[in-house]
Amino acid sequence: MSSSGECWSSSRATALQGEVRVPGDKSISHRAVMFASLAEGTSRVSGFLEGEDTRATARAFAAMGVTMQQPSASERIVHGAGLHGLHAAADAIDCGNAGTGMRLLTGILAGQAFDSTLIGDESLSHRPMRRVIDPLARMGAQIDAQQGGLPPLRVHGGRPLRGIDYALPVASAQVKSAILLAGLYADGETRISEPHPTRDYTERMLAAFGWPIAFGEGRASLSGGHRLRATDVVVPADFSSAAFFLVAASIVPGSDLLLREVGINPRRTGLLQALRLMGADIVLERERELGGEAVADLRVRHARLHGIAVPETLVPDMIDEFPILFVAAAAAQGTTRVTGAAELRVKESDRIAVMAQGLRKLGVAIEETPDGALIEGGRLGGGEVDSVGDHRCAMSFAVAGLLAATPVQILDCENVATSFPGFVALANGCGFVLVTW
Ligand code: S3P
Repeated sequence: MSSSGECWSSSRATALQGEVRVPGDKSISHRAVMFASLAEGTSRVSGFLEGEDTRATARAFAAMGVTMQQPSASERIVHGAGLHGLHAAADAIDCGNAGTGMRLLTGILAGQAFDSTLIGDESLSHRPMRRVIDPLARMGAQIDAQQGGLPPLRVHGGRPLRGIDYALPVASAQVKSAILLAGLYADGETRISEPHPTRDYTERMLAAFGWPIAFGEGRASLSGGHRLRATDVVVPADFSSAAFFLVAASIVPGSDLLLREVGINPRRTGLLQALRLMGADIVLERERELGGEAVADLRVRHARLHGIAVPETLVPDMIDEFPILFVAAAAAQGTTRVTGAAELRVKESDRIAVMAQGLRKLGVAIEETPDGALIEGGRLGGGEVDSVGDHRCAMSFAVAGLLAATPVQILDCENVATSFPGFVALANGCGFVLVTW
């Protein structure tokens, strides 16, 4: 049990109300800085997530010689170095807590003329990297890892890459993206197929930066030898951050919240469908496009939720939302069954184990299975839970506290800043009762 760093206490709340604009999308922010850095010309990124994960990615490219300015919070002006304009960083590149940062960078660095070392924090140092190393090695890359395929990684440069035809064994946008990014530097065509379609931001953004790419449901292909041209990127609010408020307002009686400008790419909004199956009252208002991405204002009102068997087809589309789905299930009437979600065990933490352990402490009957859980809803008490430094588990437990009979004390919350800086203030502004110490 770890008790380092920031802790929170979350107490029972009355109706949540108001309007909230959660910070920028993490996946899009990482990619915007990466692609703008590799482009020719100057790009402006607006709505950039000022989180620890995405700032680590920006620092990585600055360390490799890309000039960036920050005219205001959530904005970056990136003077691209071109595909072959990066130079070796003086030190190891620290990706912090970010799997997306490390895996996508591995693909990019495999195509450089120089060697690089990628390191991460305690959590990232235990996350599997074979899933990117193996296909990149088949393209001709040489990447050394620690025992078990773990970081730190040494990515050797100066090795000619060739395109591959690769069927992903697991549905992973990070792995897909790493291969496509190496494919920019490869001779010939790189083709990918996925067991289930995953978020397509890499494909969409490469196209926006002028790279010829063909993609559709569960497949993508591109060839090396083109150029990325600078373009401005507008980052919508992160659905995964909005998710905490969607569940919070659904479970607290009397709530009526408006979440503004949220990205609603269908590969991200599986939770919306799952919550609706549970009886949630969520309406999409003012659906529109923002910087090429579909966005909407989400109005969520309290509703009586009931348990469901989460359809396995939704799993990749809500892969980051299971911690908060577990809380919705604990607040619902009846049983919720999650299956086909073994990937949750290799996220920032083993999210099945961490959420099961925490919710059990709050009096919830929850049974872990290898690829999911069985959650009996209807009872939420107080107590002390450990987020083990997983940002999404910390925020999920904070939502559980809104309904708990006595306060929920949450340990190890500082990593919330990786994806959602300012969460506590924003949450308290619409009715949470959250105290930090
Ligand atoms: C992400 C892909 C997903 C997701 C992560 C962000 C991305 O990871 O969980 O938070 O930006 O590509 P996997 O590719 O490991 O499923």
